[in-house]
Amino acid sequence: MLCAKAVRNQLIEYDSRMEISQFISSQSQEVIDLFTNVFSASEGKTEGQLIGSLVSDLITTTEPQDLIGFVAITGVDIIGSIFFSSLVVPNEKTAFILSPVAIATNEQGKGIGQQLINYGISHLKSLSVDLAFTYGDQNYYSKVGFNPISERIVKAPLKLTYPEGWLAQSLDGSSIKAMEGTSHCVDALNDQKYW
Ligand SMILES: CC(C)(COP(=O)(O)OP(=O)(O)OC[C@H]1O[C@@H](n2cnc3c(N)ncnc32)[C@H](O)[C@@H]1OP(=O)(O)O)[C@@H](O)C(=O)NCCC(=O)NCCS
Repeated sequence: MLCAKAVRNQLIEYDSRMEISQFISSQSQEVIDLFTNVFSASEGKTEGQLIGSLVSDLITTTEPQDLIGFVAITGVDIIGSIFFSSLVVPNEKTAFILSPVAIATNEQGKGIGQQLINYGISHLKSLSVDLAFTYGDQNYYSKVGFNPISERIVKAPLKLTYPEGWLAQSLDGSSIKAMEGTSHCVDALNDQKYW
């Protein structure tokens, strides 16, 4: 079983093989390729290219303080990656949205996705971020603390094709209270085709 052996600065070792660290810009092309390949394999080439270009846009168009990425590395290979970007919600709370997530096709189902997301959530807590959102399969994201949230509580930035995929978790220990108004995502995600 994988377990946390050491925590130092931005780096954590889960076993002798895998390390999680914060994404840095020199990893951009490798990470874009990872997302393109993983989504091409699972959803088809068109989706692979769409998500690859989403990640490219996130990296190139988002202000540094509004984007936090993480990579899982074995040896010299990036085998997983996740991005959180700022979501402006209509009250004083700070929030980030998790999207997208990819684990290399031959490394899926080994718990790496959950480890990366939990690492990212811990990092957001260390920055005193109040809320985390995502948009996806609640069966998966419920394993890492996300629960469905009604748009009557927090409105999504764009129209949701699958309202049941709108998920959130509180990071500051308080329950999520209803907010009046709309939320706003970063430019890269601000396109109806992702929602
Ligand atoms: C979805 C993904 C990120 C999960 O990461 P992972 O490392 O493979 O998953 P983990 O090993 O952490 O978790 C495995 C568990 O999640 C479940 N799971 C994995 N992928 C799932 C999915 N797409 N939907 C629902 N459940 C899923 C597994 O059934 C398993 O459940 P169990 O522990 O009850 O047996 C990864 O499989 C992936 O990159 N898939 C292709 C791209 C994608 O769909 N990304 C997510 C949307 S942004």
